[in-house]
Order: sequence, then C-alpha cells, then structure tokens
Amino acid sequence: MSQLYSVPEHIKAKAKIDNDGYKKLYQQSIDDPEGFWSEHGQRITWFTPYNKVKNTSFESGKVSVKWYEDGTLNACYNCVDRHLANNADKTAIIWEGDDPSVDKHITYRELHKEVSRFANGLKKLGIGKGDRVAIYMPMVPEAAYAMLACARIGAVHSVIFGGFSPNAIADRINDCQAKAIITADEGRRGGSTIGLKANVDKALSDDACPSLEHSIVCRVTEGEVEWTEGRDVWWHELVGEVSDECQAEVMNAEDPLFILYTSGSTGKPKGVVHTTGGYMVYASMTHEYVFDYQEDEVYWCAADVGWITGHSYIVYGPLANGATTLMFEGVPTYPGVGRIGEIVDKHKVNILYTAPTAIRALMAKGDEAAKTSTRESLRILGSVGEPINPEAWEWYHRAIGNGKCPIMDTWWQTENGGILITPLPGATDLKPGSATRPFFGIQPALVDSEGNIQEGEAEGGLVIKDSWPGQMRTLWGDHERFEQTYFSTFKGMYFSGDGARRDSDGYYWITGRMDDVLNVSGHRLGTAEIESALVAHKAVAEAAVVGYPHDLKGQGIYVYITPVEGVEVTDELTKEVRNWVRSELSPIATPDLIHWTTGLPKTRSGKIMRRILRKIAANEYENLGDTSTLADPSVVDSLIENRMNK
Ligand code: PRX
Repeated sequence: MSQLYSVPEHIKAKAKIDNDGYKKLYQQSIDDPEGFWSEHGQRITWFTPYNKVKNTSFESGKVSVKWYEDGTLNACYNCVDRHLANNADKTAIIWEGDDPSVDKHITYRELHKEVSRFANGLKKLGIGKGDRVAIYMPMVPEAAYAMLACARIGAVHSVIFGGFSPNAIADRINDCQAKAIITADEGRRGGSTIGLKANVDKALSDDACPSLEHSIVCRVTEGEVEWTEGRDVWWHELVGEVSDECQAEVMNAEDPLFILYTSGSTGKPKGVVHTTGGYMVYASMTHEYVFDYQEDEVYWCAADVGWITGHSYIVYGPLANGATTLMFEGVPTYPGVGRIGEIVDKHKVNILYTAPTAIRALMAKGDEAAKTSTRESLRILGSVGEPINPEAWEWYHRAIGNGKCPIMDTWWQTENGGILITPLPGATDLKPGSATRPFFGIQPALVDSEGNIQEGEAEGGLVIKDSWPGQMRTLWGDHERFEQTYFSTFKGMYFSGDGARRDSDGYYWITGRMDDVLNVSGHRLGTAEIESALVAHKAVAEAAVVGYPHDLKGQGIYVYITPVEGVEVTDELTKEVRNWVRSELSPIATPDLIHWTTGLPKTRSGKIMRRILRKIAANEYENLGDTSTLADPSVVDSLIENRMNK
C-alpha cells in the first residue's frame, strides 16, 4: 500500500475544483460530451461561433475526428490579441537565459508587436495560409514568436527539436514539403553553443530539400555563419521595414495549426497533425485546471518548444489563458545543480512543470539542488514524459517542493494535444508514481491482448474509448497509417501504445510502452530509427536496438551489432559507431552500450527475437522463454556471456 498524500489545506482553500467538483464535472463530461464541450468551448474567442460540437468516429476504415467544425478562430489571436484590452502590460513571457545574469520580460503588448512584425515578414516572403514552415530554434523568445506568427497568417508550423541532426531535419522538411525554415545562427545550452544554422545548411545541401525556398536566420549568439544568397535571410532584416499591424487570418476550427514529428515503431517519423479549435480549447482548459492556474501566478514549464509539452504548456495553453509563462534557454544543471531553484526564487515561480529525468539528475547530487534557493513561491509541481519512480517523486516533493506542493503526474502523448490522465491540485489525493484519474472527457480503459475491456483492478493496454477535442486528426499525408497505428490493434478504440494498471481506487499507474518505442530521458525514440542509422554505417551488417533500465535516463539504449565480415572490432570502431548515430540522428539517440556479436537470436524464418534481447540487456536471464524455435539456440549463451556492462 503506497502512501497517500491528501490535498493540502492551503491548496484546497484556493483551488478552482475540489473532489466533488471533479466528480460532478467528470460525470457530466461523459454523460453529455456535446453539452460539456459546447459550454467549455466558450473559453476560446471565436470569430464565428460553432453550432456543431463533436463529430467523431473511431470505427475501422472510417476514423474521423472533428470538433467545432463550423466555427472560425485564430490561435494567435487567442494567445495575444484578446489580452490587449485588459492585460496589455502584463508580462506574457519571462525569458531566462542560459547565462544566469541574462533575462527579459515581454509584455502582451510587446508580444503582439513582435509576432505581428514577424508575421508580416513571412508574408513578404510569400508565405501564407496552408504553407508549411519548419522551425529549428533554440529556446529564445523568437521561437515562440515564430510559432505564433505562423498561426497568425495560417501557415502550419512544424517545430524540429534543436537536438536533431541534419538528416532528421531534411526528412521532416521533405515529409511536409516545408517552404521555409526558421532557425538561428547558434543556440546556447549549458555554457556551450550549438551550430543550428550549420545543421540546417547541411540538411539543405545538394538540393536535398527541393520544396524549401527560404531559410530565415535569427541572430542569437552572433557566431559566424555561412550564407547562401537568395535563400538565407536575417530575421532582423526581414522585420526591418514591415508594419507591426497584421490582421489575424480567419481559420476554420479544423484547419491544421501544426505538425509535430514523433517516433513510432517503424523507421519513418510520424507527422502528427493538430488542428486549431479543439486543440486550443483542450490545451487552455487543461493548463488552467491541471495546474489550478490563478491569475497573476508565474508558471514555468521547463520543457523545450521542440516537443509537444512546449507547444501546449509553454506557448498555446498558458498564453491562451493570459498567463505569465517562463521560457528557459538552458539546462537544469548549469552553471550548478541549484539552477532550477534559483530561477524559481529569482522570478517567484508558483508552478513548476518538469520531467522525471531532470528530477533524477538533481536527486543524484543529494540535496545539493535545494541548497541555493528557498523556493518559497512554489505552490504546485508537475511531472511529464515518463513514469516517475516513487523515490524521485518523494524527493521532488520534499527537496524541491518543501513538502507542501502537490505533484501533478501528467500522462499524455504528442498525439493527445494535452494532458489525459492527471491529478487536479484541489481534488485528488496523490499516490507517488500514479498519474491517478482521467481529465474531463477522457474515457480510459484497459484491454487484454484480444481487446476485451477489463473492469475493476486490472492491468493491460491503455486505450481511450472516445474522442476529446485535443486529439490529433491524422498523420500528415498518411491517413491510412494513422488508422493503422492507433485504431487497428483494438477496434473502435484509440490505442496509446502504453500499458497501465488500475488499482482499487480507480487510479492509473502507467507501466511503459508496449511497442518498439523507447523513452530515453523523456525523449521518445523508435528502435527502428536507430537501427536504420546503424546499418547505414559501413562496418555494420545487422543491428538490433532495445531498451534497458537506466538509473538516470529511465531507459538506456542497448545496441547489438553484427559486423560486416572481415571488420575488426576495436574500441575505436565502437566510438566511431556511437558518434555516427549522434550525427546521423541525434545526440539523444546515442547508444549507451554497444554489444558486438557474431549472431542475433532469430527464428527459423529469420525474425529477430527481441524479447530475448530485451531480457539479456536487462540482465534477466530467468524466463528467457521458449528458445527452441531459434535457428541457432547457442547464440543466446554467447550473448549472455558477453553482456555489456557500463
Ligand atoms: O510512454 C508514455 C510516456 O511518454 C510517451 C509519450 O511521449 P511523447 O509523445 O514524446 O510525449 C511526451 C510528453 C507528453 C507516452 O506514450 N509518458 C508521458 N507522460 C508520462 C509517461 N509515462 C508515464 N507517466 C507519465 N506521466
């Protein structure tokens, strides 16, 4: 029986929703989704009101998701313009630099100007409604301006995480046929610089991205860059002579707002498409209730805008709510392990939303992270991205939250647009390690391998039975893959790819991915993507990638490789292969352990038995299961004998 943390009195006193309120609203959202979402859709400003609310089907061959389909609005208008009447001088964004002596406050009035000017700049380049624009930026305010400017003119942005390598950039540009990319000379993180433009230049070299016409470069570090006349344009020159008034485009609720690529179980990243109306309703509503956001609070989501968490909970959700959102350029451990707390004190942060991987990195240094700050302003904590182990939960609660801040362990995915399973600060008693209960309108269920729904206490595949407004609509250019990936495993239901357990209180405990997707430090990686990068190396004949338990990263990357015949395996080669993956794909995909082997366990039909590879990587040798179907069972003994250790 895990310890229960009941709602603290000081939270209860102020909270927007208590437990009875949660139960009542949840029931209403399930009994009458139309009525519920019709009412809550009003939180957004519409140019033309909607009459239709929900038009969704999870039926095989006919999967279709539409919300508020006859309404019109603009996401940027909702995040910026509508706050000008009453809150123009309120701080919209607090930007904290990598260097602790550098920060900046941007009011809603300033945000409006910056975004409008850049939107006019984009228009000047001939970019308009429906065009795709890639964004490959560091965590500077211009990244948010760029996203909002695209939304303002109806262009569909696709943010590419700043840690991705040239090949990954090119793949994403080509998949969505982006017309422009917005980048920076360099980014700053943890005291070093990253050549973002240089990566873009490489991605675009040899005419690798024929759709791309413009590369817009923001000056961040003033580092040296190469220049391609006709294609490259400086951000500051582009906005030099344009007006700071730009009418927000009228968008249909179902017009795409952005594409965000994420990893699946095949090699090709998936372009998750989110549209405008439902996404804005869901992102803003979850931001308000999950964090019990109160006017005048300072809210900090320490994610990167390159991920969905940054989209929904740094930019769109909080800005739609007129909040003050903090954007941090750096990393939690620079210049010292106390940085998070120091930022909290400096900007009087009330709500802090971060990832277990960051929490574990700080926890590894004892209580050092808590020594340089008081963190007295903190009221609510959040966690996202991977299961948080109870030990890290307790430490976060005690050392960062001074034992008084409830932790919202929020479970969701890129595909979901916003948080699906989560506590609410004033309503939910907490159990360390559990994401607890569904948000309004979310109907989770657990299924066995045949798709039978399990009642009561149970464990199984985590599915969602009906649609919610923030749900993805399709995969860019591949609706069939969308249906196949999410709706074919269990007919008529959205399958998350995660497994979960439900306890006797109805609380959900996420157990992790059930497919070939890894979660490394909260970053989602497909094993197939890493394998295809590996086999592109000349020394690699065959590769198989699995995850294994890792103290800090949650999961580490364990790589089995059979070398090309005649290749001599040396430490140099191992290093070279490791660096190869870094530069082909991303530093976040760097293998932790590389295991060279003369053979992989395969069935007689040639299929690699990953189950066995996972067990060996995890150092679990009992229950290897039936190995009699292997073409050569002796391979297993040799793999066990040579299991890699750190
Ligand atoms: O396995 C789940 C894990 O992260 C996956 C989604 O990754 P991504 O699309 O990159 O989005 C991350 C941020 C929303 C899920 O399938 N995950 C996310 N949050 C949690 C989690 N696992 C356990 N507990 C969580 N709170």
